[in-house]
Amino acid sequence: MSNKIQTELLKCNDNNIKKASEYLKQGHLVVFPTETVFGIGGDAFSDKAIKKIFKVKKRPIFNPLIVHIKDKDSIEDNAIINKKAEILINYFMPGPLTLILPINKKSKISKFVTAGLNTIALRVPSHKIIKSILEEFGRPIAAPSANISGKPSSTRANDAYNAFKGLIPCIMENKDAQIGLESTVVGFYEGNPVLLRYGALEVEKIQDILGEKVLIRNSIKKTEKVLSPGQTLRHYSPVATIRLNAVKAKKNEVFMGFGKLPENVLGKNLSENRDLSEAASNLYSTLIDLDELCFKSNKTQIAVASIPNIGIGKTINDRLKKASNKN
Ligand code: TXA
Ligand code: MG
Repeated sequence: MSNKIQTELLKCNDNNIKKASEYLKQGHLVVFPTETVFGIGGDAFSDKAIKKIFKVKKRPIFNPLIVHIKDKDSIEDNAIINKKAEILINYFMPGPLTLILPINKKSKISKFVTAGLNTIALRVPSHKIIKSILEEFGRPIAAPSANISGKPSSTRANDAYNAFKGLIPCIMENKDAQIGLESTVVGFYEGNPVLLRYGALEVEKIQDILGEKVLIRNSIKKTEKVLSPGQTLRHYSPVATIRLNAVKAKKNEVFMGFGKLPENVLGKNLSENRDLSEAASNLYSTLIDLDELCFKSNKTQIAVASIPNIGIGKTINDRLKKASNKN
């Protein structure tokens, strides 16, 4: 007998928000859009739900999850806030910022969420669907990006459906534009901010508000101490290999353009007008589509046009660089 679950794609309305919340109460997982990428979430208090997240995503258990909470006031139920964290909370939450803070002893979050660390990742999302689910459910939701570990994140309900159909009961759809890149992750070392993952919130904005440079530890060298376990893993990678800073496509390649596509090339554009925000919101869906195009047209590699390394372009380049890593 098959133990597959029927997976429904649900439109966002009050009834379906209630339905999603009911599923969470029963210990199921739910996929929902956020202002960054889609998340696959479960009850952050439930060991059973959290173990399911690691299982369906095939995520290594040492890689901790982000806990999504409904408002800033809930941060103190779970974590200890320092002075600089308080400034960032006041300026950037709700929004695409995740803070890594020491766990507060009174927190009821499952120990599997934090993978045995004494810190916790917290984020207050601003997107109306996840906000309504958090409100209705009444507990924090642990949610990584809605993709199989190592693959490109989902920015379309259908990509999440293809990854998790038969494993979870529902996926909330979304038509609104999304930023398309994950939240910026900031931790603290001896009270000072450290950027652990480039993300949707530009690091320059964080530096402006704090009035100081933020130490960048977005990736690690083999000799360094691991500050964020996700940095050690292969990420965002399609099946096809990736070649960066390409001008045109070779025989075995399809092309990912930024600006006009070269003539007669098989490929897709991130942004015809060279708009970095548009490119960000198209990045993961284009990677997924070009991977499929490679498969269908017997090609093995995606050649990617060079992207300006400014503002959100830094995050796009970070993702592309990690996606192109061969191990
Ligand atoms: O935009 C986002 O952040 C999306 C949406 C769904 O909210 N979520 C997301 O989650 O990108 P995920 O699991 O794909 O990435 C979480 C990152 C991982 O690299 C993980 O290692 C890091 O946050 N992380 C979580 N807890 C941590 C902790 N206590 N210390 C250091 N890094 C931590
Ligand atoms: Mg992820």
